[in-house]
Amino acid sequence: MPSETLTIRDNRTGKELELPILKGTEGPSVVDVTKFYKEFGLFTLDPGFYSTASCISEITFIDGEKGILLYRGYPIEQLAEQSNFLEVSYLLLFGKLPNQAEHEQFERLVTQHTMVHEQLKDFYRGFRRDAHPMAIMVGVIGALSAFYHDSLDIFDARSREISAYRLIAKMPTIAAFSYKYAVGQPFVYPDNERGFVENFLYMMFAVPCAKYKVSPVLVKAMDQILTLHADHEQNASTATVRLAGSSLANPFAAISAGIGALWGPAHGGANEAVLNMLGQIRTPDRIGEYIKRAKDPQDPFRLMGFGHRVYKNYDPRAKVLRKAAHDVLQELGHVDDPRFKVALELERIAREDDYFVQKKLYPNVDFYSGLILSAIGFPTNMFTVIFALARSVGWFSQWMEMISDKGQAIGRPRQLYRGAMTRDYVPLYQRD
Ligand code: ACO
Repeated sequence: MPSETLTIRDNRTGKELELPILKGTEGPSVVDVTKFYKEFGLFTLDPGFYSTASCISEITFIDGEKGILLYRGYPIEQLAEQSNFLEVSYLLLFGKLPNQAEHEQFERLVTQHTMVHEQLKDFYRGFRRDAHPMAIMVGVIGALSAFYHDSLDIFDARSREISAYRLIAKMPTIAAFSYKYAVGQPFVYPDNERGFVENFLYMMFAVPCAKYKVSPVLVKAMDQILTLHADHEQNASTATVRLAGSSLANPFAAISAGIGALWGPAHGGANEAVLNMLGQIRTPDRIGEYIKRAKDPQDPFRLMGFGHRVYKNYDPRAKVLRKAAHDVLQELGHVDDPRFKVALELERIAREDDYFVQKKLYPNVDFYSGLILSAIGFPTNMFTVIFALARSVGWFSQWMEMISDKGQAIGRPRQLYRGAMTRDYVPLYQRD
């Protein structure tokens, strides 16, 4: 029994139970309630997971009060500035920064897997041209399990690793194909001479009739967007991947479930809403009107890109993207983009306003990311796809951690039943 415990008393029977308190390396401790039902015959209820930890993890830590995000202990700001998405992928998957040889080998292995099976391309033709690219992603990522049986033994560490390389390498190709299909342009095959992020931009925006060259400033910003979105501990889509994977489903199937969860506007879709809002406000002199609306309890309008369930401080990811947005717009000669001007001014006004200060509403990661993606040339319906591309590394790492855990069991929530009591079936001819 751990040294710290919590004593619970059932006032109906007077029975007391000492529950172990488990400490983490950082953040709040947790009360282990696994014996609660056996001892008390009661379940705990917490549908939104407001007070419930769903697992023990060593991957990502968030301190929302202080605005801290760590991947395997490393601050996100340092990783976004000094590392890159591929190195961060290695870090998330394997728990340490790679040395030179590991780095090169990881890069080589990911690069080797960027192509998709030719037959996988046929899937795209089955979709309508106006299909949402997330619908395509759910289908095609799930379909990977029909192509790569040779790495689907989830109890074999080597197979899990190969599946990880395949997923990380093929996500950009599959994402770019979903865009090319929508706009009626030919698929652009990966060019493995290019780095991971540059290759993605190449597959997205190159056409066979013109040379494609991209500015390193855009590549860096894109890399930062992917790095900042790579993991975020137990959010809705990651929890979905873990739950689906806990049934011992293969990782492609579990991650396809995660993509479905990410698709919802309450999770992956907010940066699109920010862009729409900035477009609506149009000029800085109209900001006051929108701030007033956001503060009015009778008006459902909220400042998009402000506030976060976990961060009650400046989202550290937004800080990085604020600078990246400036760099990208300057590089493209768009610093006068009215949406950027409105964004900067909106942030300044909101951060001095008592309502936002009192409620601890700060810009979140979505506030600037849409501006950057739009400037690079992504249509808004691709924003969530980019999020999925980045998060696939976090999903895979979390899945791998779960499946390698000796105590792993199928996730099986319980419920409070409030339906009908037991009743006898009534034949159709006897019903009213
Ligand atoms: N604009 C104006 N008021 C706000 C905003 C906002 N963006 N966000 C919260 N509030 C107010 C609420 O009206 C509420 O006020 P009240 O206490 O007077 O009722 C209070 O702040 C707390 O709001 P909750 O919704 O209870 O806070 P919660 O932590 O559950 O919500 C959420 C977080 C959903 C992100 C919210 O801040 C929001 O709707 N923001 C705008 C949408 C957005 O940017 N979403 C992206 C989140 S980041 C991500 O998912 C990757």
